Amino acid sequence: MFGLFQRKPKETAKFEVRFLPANTTLQIEQGSNLLEAALRHGMPAPYNCRVGACKTCQIKVIEGRPKSLMEREYVFSRQEIEAGTYLACQTAVHSDMVIAWDNSEPDGAAKVGARLLEVRPMTARIHRVRLQLDAPLSWRAGQFARLQPFELDITARSYSMIAAGHHADIVEFDITHYPDGALSSWIVDPANAGKPLSIEAPFGDFGLDETGSDTSLPLLCIAGGSGLGAIGGMIGTCLDKFSGSPTARPVVLVYGARDQKEIYALDELQRRAEAAQIPLSVNVVLDREPAGSSWAGRRGYVAEHLTDILAEAARHNDRFRLPASAWHVLLCGPTPLVDSAIATLRQAGMHPDQMSFDKYEQGVAATTAAVI
Ligand SMILES: Cc1cc2nc3c(=O)[nH]c(=O)nc-3n(C[C@H](O)[C@H](O)[C@H](O)COP(=O)(O)OP(=O)(O)OC[C@H]3O[C@@H](n4cnc5c(N)ncnc54)[C@H](O)[C@@H]3O)c2cc1C
Ligand code: FES
Repeated sequence: MFGLFQRKPKETAKFEVRFLPANTTLQIEQGSNLLEAALRHGMPAPYNCRVGACKTCQIKVIEGRPKSLMEREYVFSRQEIEAGTYLACQTAVHSDMVIAWDNSEPDGAAKVGARLLEVRPMTARIHRVRLQLDAPLSWRAGQFARLQPFELDITARSYSMIAAGHHADIVEFDITHYPDGALSSWIVDPANAGKPLSIEAPFGDFGLDETGSDTSLPLLCIAGGSGLGAIGGMIGTCLDKFSGSPTARPVVLVYGARDQKEIYALDELQRRAEAAQIPLSVNVVLDREPAGSSWAGRRGYVAEHLTDILAEAARHNDRFRLPASAWHVLLCGPTPLVDSAIATLRQAGMHPDQMSFDKYEQGVAATTAAVI
């Protein structure tokens, strides 16, 4: 009797999505995330971060009208956007589609053996890790590598390389140790010094692209936690390259950390900037510093302080007195910090194509599906 009045569950529309070059067609529910749907159906889809930062899941839409869940200007050029380039992890299905999904490894990435050469604690949680490579590799500061110890049965974890390397056989990372983290706990365990692991690199194109941009315009660098490693590497590259030049990019650095004990590497950057005679404004924002401590600086979240930090930099140095549209912004660290900072900068009038970011998502470990 009651059954007569029961509403039939509304059926969600399904669309046909054809994947090239495999020529596999899947029925995918309207509104589904394309990457999640492909993985659920067992497609060997390449991915890494799942948050629109690494570009591993890049696709080309040949037919159909997908909805991008992020503004593509953050990661793609105008030409790439016009050619139909999307990130599968940031794409919702809203029509039948034909997409080209290149499952090959990115150009230039190689897998080599390495040894754990040195692990230096920078703070209680962040360690600077040096690897000796069995064969040389080349990369830009900010690109990332996938690390996998031979003796651990885990999927590779992603880490950003600090300084750039050209045909180099030493690579450095700043790695946050999570007590229940498989890779980071292995790295910091002194018993594993000198042990072998595999490194696959380079991936991603986060970083400073100097081609075609005015290298005298200011740089706003925003880092959270171990994101300071890659950001510091990029600032260091600028300092070395333009040392002594009166038109070198001035830099505002904003570092978000938990407490005073997590402040590291900043004095060294200041010293290098002074030696290179390049303006560097360093700002620290602490979100877990105990009330009543000796800290007289900024407290709370980075995003809450950005407008004020830029205004203060402009008051202290004319080189920072420029409209929002003049800045180039690099962001690196935990996803909430990066996302909230981007939202504030957008409100202040900055455009996605001024920004480049990397989000330190707990990407690989959180997933059960196979990675390439
Ligand atoms: C492109 C890219 C670049 C990255 N670069 C760096 C880098 O340079 N330095 C760095 O420290 N990390 C970086 N990360 C993040 C790093 O890959 C993850 O944190 C990784 O999962 C840690 O591996 P693990 O084995 O130690 O911990 P897992 O075994 O993966 O995780 C176990 C537990 O550790 C904790 N945990 C792990 N990662 C996170 C996280 N990111 N946020 C919050 N809690 C977490 C959680 O408690 C989790 O339950 C990057 C991530 C990406 C996608
Ligand atoms: S950008 Fe999609 S998985 Fe990283």
